[in-house]
Parts: sequence; structure tokens; C-alpha cells
Amino acid sequence: MPMPQLSYTPEVAAETAPLYERVKRVIPEIEWPVFAPCISAINRVKREKRAVILAHNYMTPEIYHCVADFVGDSLQLAREAAKTDAGIIVQAGVRFMAETAKVLSPEKKVLIPDELAGCSLASSITARDVRALKRAHPGLPVVSYVNTSAEVKAESDICCTSANAADVVEFIAAERGVESVIMIPDEYLARNVAAQTPINIITWNGHCEVHERFSAADIRELRSAHSGLVVLAHPECPPEVIAAADFAGSTAAMGNYITSKKPARVALITECSMSDNLAVDAPSVEFIRPCNLCPHMKRITLAGILEALQRERIEITVDPLVSVRARAAVEAMLKVRPRAQRRAA
Ligand code: 13P
Ligand code: SF4
Repeated sequence: MPMPQLSYTPEVAAETAPLYERVKRVIPEIEWPVFAPCISAINRVKREKRAVILAHNYMTPEIYHCVADFVGDSLQLAREAAKTDAGIIVQAGVRFMAETAKVLSPEKKVLIPDELAGCSLASSITARDVRALKRAHPGLPVVSYVNTSAEVKAESDICCTSANAADVVEFIAAERGVESVIMIPDEYLARNVAAQTPINIITWNGHCEVHERFSAADIRELRSAHSGLVVLAHPECPPEVIAAADFAGSTAAMGNYITSKKPARVALITECSMSDNLAVDAPSVEFIRPCNLCPHMKRITLAGILEALQRERIEITVDPLVSVRARAAVEAMLKVRPRAQRRAA
């Protein structure tokens, strides 16, 4: 999408100078005059329209650090969508995230800058597939990963994210008095959760096209090329990748690990923008970057966000009957306390 006709005036340079100071380690100086006018315009329109921008951790640094009001993993963004009192939400992320925001805030206008920002996991399963799974396994609750359409969520008992999947599986199994659950659609996330809990998990064959491409051999090569390397991997990676890593967690959990432990040298086995965004807040950490790009996340640009705000499009709509049932599944997830807290209570 072409950049709107905006100029890098002395006023724009002065206004955006503090933002550039923040991101200068990850955005070359020569690129700033291209980004700054759009950043300035987005922040102005956002204030005028009382809008908020929710940005996923995979957004590029000029979005993540310069125009976002809230950043985070899927769980944090769902929580923010549920509590914001802004009239307009712009989802700087992919469609399932915008739909989640809409089902949690049906009275708000939820916009996505690019309608083709999808997800290989969300497109791997339909509501019809879920109904067939329920018929094949009567009585078992369905846990659907938040990376699914609203229609799939509506067929589910509860949602989960990569940050709370094991907690949700144990919660719903205990609540329903069952030893097995259906967990869809990410086969690898389900297998990685199964390794942490005695609950039997029936899954689907969906995969994240970004994380499925990593292998344990990649990690071995990285370790032999970079001494003292700490490897953090996302749980959408295949189980052998998780076994070869030092830590596995959601994008927020990886971020917390880096900012709290500040390892000298780290490799994040996930989407490329994670390292750029964290490098801003953890300048002492050396990031080795064996990353893969998510083509869906990368459809979101500053120009797209500005156009979304100015024209108030592309608006997300969800059928009200679907929305009510999907919302129940998302809200059930938001009430689940971590296992450690439940055991202590
Ligand atoms: P989290 O940010 O919830 O870990 O999810 C990663 C992801 O793939 C979102 O698309
Ligand atoms: Fe979907 Fe994977 Fe892209 Fe996330 S990174 S949006 S799970 S394809």
C-alpha cells in the first residue's frame, strides 16, 4: 500500500525526535523520514477519534514502539480489548485477534488495516470440522486456541492462548470431570501441552506456517556457532524444537524472560520482529536472529493503520448469534487462574 502524501517537515522531525531516540538501535536513521510523518499523523488522528491501537508483539518496531497504545501476546491483547473504553479499536495484528476484540466489545468499532491478514492455524479448521470432532468424541470439552475464527470459537467450550493452554486444559478437564479434552487446531501446541499434563489431548492437524519451519537441527547449529547461547522457543514449534530449547513460552513470556534475566546472547525461535522489539528495551542482550517472517502479520503497515483510522475501515463484523457463543468461550478463558494459584488456594 503506498504511503499517503505526508512530509518530513521540521515540525514533524521535532515532534517525533523522542520516538526516534527510543528506536534508533533498530531503525536506520535514513528510514526515519519515511516513517515519521505517518507516525505523527496516526498519533494525531488517534487522539481526535479517541481510538486505541492494540499491537501484537510481531508488529514491526515503528508500529510497536511508536503508535501502539497496548502491546502484548494474544492473551494480553484480549484482556485489553475487554477493558478499553475507547470507541474505536484498531487491531495491529491478524484477523482472529480483531474478531476476538469484536466479540469482547461488540458495541465498539473494531478495525483491521488489511483484510487479508489471516493465519494458517485459523484457516486450518472450520466450525463444521469442530462439530464433527464433537460427534466423534461425545462428552469431551473443546478447547480452541485463540488463533481460530469466531465461528470455531462459538463451537468451543473454552479458548486458550499459548500463555495459558496447560492451565485451561487442566481447568476444563477438572470442571467437567473428564480425563480427555479436544484441543484444536494446533497439533504442536497440543503435543507440547500434553507433555506438561496428565490429561489426554485429542487434537487437529493445524500448524503455524512460521513456527513449523524450525527444526532441532537449526538449534544445534546455532549453539555450535554461538557459545553460551540461550534459546527461547514459541510453543507453536514442533516438540523436538521445544525439547532442544532452554525455555518455551508465549511471546510475552519470552519478552519477560529477556527483560528480567537479561541473558548475554539469545536466539528467539519465533517471528522476526520479536527480536527487534525486545532489542529496544534490552540493549545489553545480543540477539542471534534465526527468525521466520509471518506474511500475515507483515501485511500491517503504518500506511494501512493511518488509512484504517482516517476512513474507519476495514470494520470487523461478527454475526451476533456467533458472537455471543464465541464470547462465552473467550470469557471462560479469561476467568481461568494459573494452576499454581489454584493449587495454593
Ligand atoms: P502469542 O503472542 O499469544 O504467543 O501468539 C503467537 C502467535 O502466533 C500469534 O499469532
Ligand atoms: Fe498465524 Fe503463525 Fe502468523 Fe501467528 S505467526 S498469525 S500463528 S501464521
